[in-house]
Order: sequence, then C-alpha cells, then structure tokens
Amino acid sequence: MFLGSVVGGKTPKKFLPYGRQSISDEDILAVERVLRSDWLTTGPLVDSFERAFSERVGASFAVSFSSGTAALHGAMHASGLSPGDRVLSTPLTFAASMNAALYCGGVPLFADISPLTLCLDPSAADSAWARSGGRLRAIVPVSYAGYPVDISSFRDLAYRSGAVLIEDACHALGAERGALSVGREADMTVFSFHPVKHITTAEGGMVVTESPEFARRLRLFRSHGIVKSPEDFARQYEGPWDNDMIDLGYNYRLSDVACALGESQLKRLGQFLARRRELAARYRSALSSICGLVLPPDHPGHSYHLFPVRVDADLRRSVFMSLRDAGIGVQVHYVPLHLHTYYREKFAFIGGEFPNAEVFSAGEISLPLFPEMEDDDIDFVAERLARALFMHCPNERVTVRDLPRGREK
Ligand SMILES: Cc1ncc(COP(=O)(O)O)c(C=O)c1O
Repeated sequence: MFLGSVVGGKTPKKFLPYGRQSISDEDILAVERVLRSDWLTTGPLVDSFERAFSERVGASFAVSFSSGTAALHGAMHASGLSPGDRVLSTPLTFAASMNAALYCGGVPLFADISPLTLCLDPSAADSAWARSGGRLRAIVPVSYAGYPVDISSFRDLAYRSGAVLIEDACHALGAERGALSVGREADMTVFSFHPVKHITTAEGGMVVTESPEFARRLRLFRSHGIVKSPEDFARQYEGPWDNDMIDLGYNYRLSDVACALGESQLKRLGQFLARRRELAARYRSALSSICGLVLPPDHPGHSYHLFPVRVDADLRRSVFMSLRDAGIGVQVHYVPLHLHTYYREKFAFIGGEFPNAEVFSAGEISLPLFPEMEDDDIDFVAERLARALFMHCPNERVTVRDLPRGREK
C-alpha cells in the first residue's frame, strides 16, 4: 500500500493522492551536481534538456518554459494572437488552456467535446467557427486525461480559417497517434512538468514545434524579448556588451536546476508510461462489471495522466465523499471552464451551452493514478468505489455484479 500520509485530526491517516511525482536517487544526484556547478540558470543544462526532449518526442525544436501555463502563453504569442482574435478550445480543460489566450487579448470560442473521446469535437469546432464570424487565430485541442486527440481532424479548419493549431498536451507526454508521438502533428505542442504529470521539474513546461520561426519567437518571449547575438539584431550591433529588446517578453525561463531534474526524469518516461498503462488496465478489469459506472475511453496510444470515471450526477457528491473518507484523494477534472465565475461574468456564459462537457463533468471523478501506486492500491480504490456506488444508489440504478472483494449492503 502506498505510504503517503496526511495528519488529519488526531491520528495520522494514510492518504492516496490522485497523482504525485516519482523521484529517484539519480534525480537527486543530477540536481545536486547542478547546485554545485557555476550555472543555476541560463546555463548548459537548458539546451541539454531541450535537446533530449525534442529527440524523445521526435520534434525539431523544443523551448522550455517556467510552467505549462507560461509555455501556453508563449505559444499564443508566437501564433500572432492579437487583441480581439478568437481562440477555439474545449471547455473540459484546466483554466490555463484558455487563460493563456486571454493574456494576449484573445476572445474564447468554446466548442463541445465528443462523448467518445472527451476531447474537442471536430464537427462542433467547425460549427462554432462558422457561427462566430470573427478572426480565428488559434485552435487549441486538449488531449484530455492523456487520450491523444485526433489533431489531423482539425487541419482542414485550421487551413480554412488561417488559424495556428496548438495542441495542449499537458496531459499527454508520451501518448501516441499510430507511429507518431504527441508533439509531431500540431504547429506547436505544449507540455507541463507539474509534479502530477508524466515527468516533473517541480514547475515547468515545454513547447515543441517544427517551425524555426515559432521557436525563435518562443525563445524571445520567454526571456524579455531581448537578443544578444549579432545575427539577431534589427539595428547595428555595437559590440559584445550590446543587447536589444526587439519584442515585449517575460522572464519565463526554466532554471538549470529544474532542467537537470527534467532530463533525469525523461530517462524514466518509458517506465512511467508503462506503469500508468498497466495500472489503468487493472482499473478497467476491476471496474468493468459495475453498472452505473462509465469508464474513460481507451486508445492504443493513451498515456493515462488521469483515470476519469463517471457516475450518475446525483450520486457524485456521496461517492466522492465516501472515497475521500476512505483516504482516497479523488479529484474532479474539471469544472467546465465557461462555468467559472470569471468566464460567466466576462463572456456572458449562462450554462447549457456545451451539454456533453457539462453532463460529463457533473458525474466525473478522477481516481488516483501515478507510477508508484501498487496493484493493491488499485484494488483498494476499485473496491471502495464499487461499495460507495452500491451503498449510495437510491433506486437500483447501480447494480454491483462482481464487487472486487466481498459484497456489502
Ligand atoms: C490541460 C492543462 N493545460 C495547462 C496546464 C498548465 O500547466 P502548469 O500547471 O504547468 O502551468 C495544466 C496543468 O495542470 C493542464 O492540466
């Protein structure tokens, strides 16, 4: 049984979080080496991590950022997004997917998810654009939970609308579409290295692209828009002391300390993915016979950042609370973005606009999933979930044919 614990009340209680990092002695040594070196930031580890990452994903350029959110902001800026332009995305995502567009003055254009993939529905995206009229600058499909959204199904819309295709793959490092790793198909693909993600740098993010021009804009944006090399100057270069700010940028750099951790973690990505897929398969076999429980869509290239199940919306609160009471750190991913107060007030969403996302979200529960979980952690969660559903079902909507361990009323 996983040994994470929290002190809740008088007695420490074992707690199974929904996600957490896996840090090895090699990771710690890699970080220690950098701490003893001359470069804590803007040093050689940044290039080295970016090179290793682009090779792993199979992309030509990788540009690191201080978070996935900063990376999304960089991608929006690099796409040429200007105030008033629309950005099309799914409401079933973390706020950062669209907030990054708002930072640049973008206007959200949401379209519903497909219930089959839980990702942006290409035909809903098409109709949303047809209805909207305005200039579309970016389409941002999100590979929700690690399910690799079909990027090719948005190519035609991107072409017709002149939009840049930015995949939010913060859940999907290591996911695959056929022979292609996620990161190969969109114009830019964004990853996050938050501790619950596939690899971590504590905070951190990356954009990968095939375009040297996007890579150039991304690098400028993450470091104040300042250039130092003579070939990048727009005016006369004066000498080695000279630098010029040619665009408005931020300090969104990822430190060498973080990059050392990232590069070390990347060596275990294959292992992390294999374990996540194994654990997801164990959930599937433990939970498949429970009526009233909808399991997440599967895909041969799924990278399983999350294992989001759905119960009847009327039962969600009680099932969720029962699991929390059992020390299981379930979460909800996500409250649909258009239903957050800020979006409602600023963009006049009222609810009901995106029924597939709203219905899914109302019954969603993310079960714990991270590489250091043991098989019996999965069995424990599955048993508690089955019990909670069985106990809280008011009128036989839920039938438990095969509880994983024992049967209880
Ligand atoms: C879909 C999605 N996009 C963007 C982000 C932002 O990444 P970060 O937390 O690294 O800023 C997250 C983080 O959870 C996410 O889940």
